[in-house]
Amino acid sequence: MNDFKSKIIIVTGGAGGIGQATCEAFLQSKATVLCVDNNKEKISKFRKANDSKNLLFFDLDITEEKKVKDFYNQVKSDHGGVDHLINNAGVATLNLCKDLSVDDWDLVMRVNLRGMFLMTKHAIPIFNDKGSILNISSQAARRAQRFTSHYNASKMGVIGFTRAVALELAPKIRVNAISPGTIGTEIIDNEINWRINRGYEKTREEVEHDWLHRIPMGRYQMPEDIAKAIVGFCSNTFSETTGETLNVSGGAVME
Ligand SMILES: NC(=O)c1ccc[n+]([C@@H]2O[C@H](COP(=O)([O-])OP(=O)(O)OC[C@H]3O[C@@H](n4cnc5c(N)ncnc54)[C@H](O)[C@@H]3O)[C@@H](O)[C@H]2O)c1
Repeated sequence: MNDFKSKIIIVTGGAGGIGQATCEAFLQSKATVLCVDNNKEKISKFRKANDSKNLLFFDLDITEEKKVKDFYNQVKSDHGGVDHLINNAGVATLNLCKDLSVDDWDLVMRVNLRGMFLMTKHAIPIFNDKGSILNISSQAARRAQRFTSHYNASKMGVIGFTRAVALELAPKIRVNAISPGTIGTEIIDNEINWRINRGYEKTREEVEHDWLHRIPMGRYQMPEDIAKAIVGFCSNTFSETTGETLNVSGGAVME
């Protein structure tokens, strides 16, 4: 695919599970990839694992406006503009709504919504024509699930934001979202352990049996599956699609 040759791609949360796979998928398409993350340890591990000269790392908290502005000033002076922005950084915590702390609520809203907003707002002035913004939502926006009322609300918010900004930026920039299903990353491992430790489930096998049962394709999707979909959705194949949310959940969500 030549759609991304020499294009400037920004991936937030780029040192995490889906983020790394996405950076690597764009690198294979000969893009220049700017990996943005606020976890120094993850950045350092990823840097060691992939020393491509087209992969650049930025230790940046996307919720801090001044730092986001400084980042885009640097992008403009070093690269001239942005072609594709992947708003992938996200956090999740777990609790029943009645036990959820305001701190947890605020953290999830801050990263999943404020961070996406700031990264988008300050990218718009330097976006190149025919670019796209791809926001990562979740099946949690499409289907109720326990313990994540704040996360579900934030990921619904991602879809609403996607549609409104798609209207504002058409026809110059497409804005779409992807809703991953259950992805084999740390987030899922943490959730399974949390459910067992709190006594909501007995064993890992029980949880996994229940979850896998709900996925018609019969397996968790992997970060590479989501990365492929992200690259595809940003490509010219989808040049006429904007404001849309694509489920990549192995059929767990059909809507
Ligand atoms: N794993 C799943 O099952 C799943 C399912 C649906 C949606 N998602 C969504 O996919 C996206 C990626 O998730 P993942 O599974 O790869 O998780 P992950 O925890 O592996 O990656 C998330 C990355 O975001 C970074 N990050 C967090 N806060 C940040 C901030 N303030 N500034 C910059 N970076 C920050 C983290 O350091 C981490 O590297 C998230 O938006 C998540 O909500 C994940």
